[in-house]
Amino acid sequence: MTLDTPSFSPGLEGVAIAESAISLVEGQAGRLTYRGYSIEDLTHPGATFEEVVALLYDGELPSQARIDEIRQKMHDDRVLTPEQLDVARRVGAITHPMFALQSAVAALGPDDNDFERKVDSVQDRGLALVAKVGHLVGIIAQAVEGRDYDGPWVGESFAHMMLRMITGQEPSPEHERVMNALLILQADHSAGNASTFTARVVTSTKSEPEAVCAAGIGALSGPAHGGANEASLRLFQQIGDPKKAETEIQKLLDDKFKIPGFGHRVYHVKDPRSIVIQRLADEVIKPGTEVHDLYQIALTVEKVATDRLGDRGLYPNVDLFSGCVFAAIGIPTDFFTPIFAASRTLGWMVHTKEQWESGNRIFRPTQVYTGHQHREYIPLEQRS
Ligand SMILES: CC(C)(COP(=O)(O)OP(=O)(O)OC[C@H]1O[C@@H](n2cnc3c(N)ncnc32)[C@H](O)[C@@H]1OP(=O)(O)O)[C@@H](O)C(=O)NCCC(=O)NCCS
Repeated sequence: MTLDTPSFSPGLEGVAIAESAISLVEGQAGRLTYRGYSIEDLTHPGATFEEVVALLYDGELPSQARIDEIRQKMHDDRVLTPEQLDVARRVGAITHPMFALQSAVAALGPDDNDFERKVDSVQDRGLALVAKVGHLVGIIAQAVEGRDYDGPWVGESFAHMMLRMITGQEPSPEHERVMNALLILQADHSAGNASTFTARVVTSTKSEPEAVCAAGIGALSGPAHGGANEASLRLFQQIGDPKKAETEIQKLLDDKFKIPGFGHRVYHVKDPRSIVIQRLADEVIKPGTEVHDLYQIALTVEKVATDRLGDRGLYPNVDLFSGCVFAAIGIPTDFFTPIFAASRTLGWMVHTKEQWESGNRIFRPTQVYTGHQHREYIPLEQRS
């Protein structure tokens, strides 16, 4: 490679963008680990999101005292000013919850813009954002449904708060456990996924953490990334009847439609997160419900699409079944991706810290220029 003719990898496939010790995606083995621990172990029945917050920040499995400390910190940090609350409710009432969340997070930013001077606070600021983003998602859900603000309760866990505020119901222990598992499974996915890469790029310009998080939410919103959980459930609803699923999916694949929840740049086997999510689905989706029909459609999608595309290394990803589980615990479809964002805020913020600690050189890749060279300017009156 010379400087004049740089190599070009569409979608940056195969290009390492960071050295990272946070999580590892092993695409051929179908394995995902956080700080070396498998997601299967980390979603054990008593697991809490707070435990994984501590693990991702500290790099080691936490003691109960450390989990309690994180829980207290998130409890204290999720408090918002009346103005921030008002912004979240107002934007929640006028646009999709993901855009509302992006605006509300940006509005949390400080009144200066000089993070390098405050970089010692990178962990505190990140933790505070994790706590606040979950709260904001709950506020936006209440605003969308025209409910009054009913904020976090004293002593309430992060998963309980989010579920209660979003659904307007006191969650059962089973639903809280499932919510914790979903939050844990979506918390990080290496430095290379589009939103975490975005977070690292924005961090590299020395931006405030709120700007990093808002940018990450924008990247996550698209249906090729986090928005696929919403898109897949909407597809299943459109198909409607499990008996029609096989024919409809065959038609969509004939038309080269990209099935949401299917395929992955790195995994060429079934996404390990989708296997854990299916275990949750089996526990929480009750026969005879509408969600059960949608899940049967999802299973048919898996079978038909795997039969046709499996030999090309395309299999279900995290989003094929997550929507069905979210729906089974009472989450409205528009809130699947905002919950993903609340969980992934943890990953973005831990990557922000790692990015700063590893020198934080600004991302400034190059391009392969394909346009005109040095043309002679023609004054307006001489143009035909
Ligand atoms: C995840 C995704 C963006 C990865 O993209 P990528 O690595 O750039 O792969 P490509 O889009 O280039 O796809 C490679 C081939 O597989 C096919 N393919 C990829 N995903 C597919 C899907 N979900 N359904 C049907 N075909 C798919 C493409 O059509 C392409 O076929 P071609 O070579 O004949 O043109 C892509 O698989 C996708 O759009 N999936 C659906 C959205 C989704 O679930 N996103 C969440 C990811 S966690």
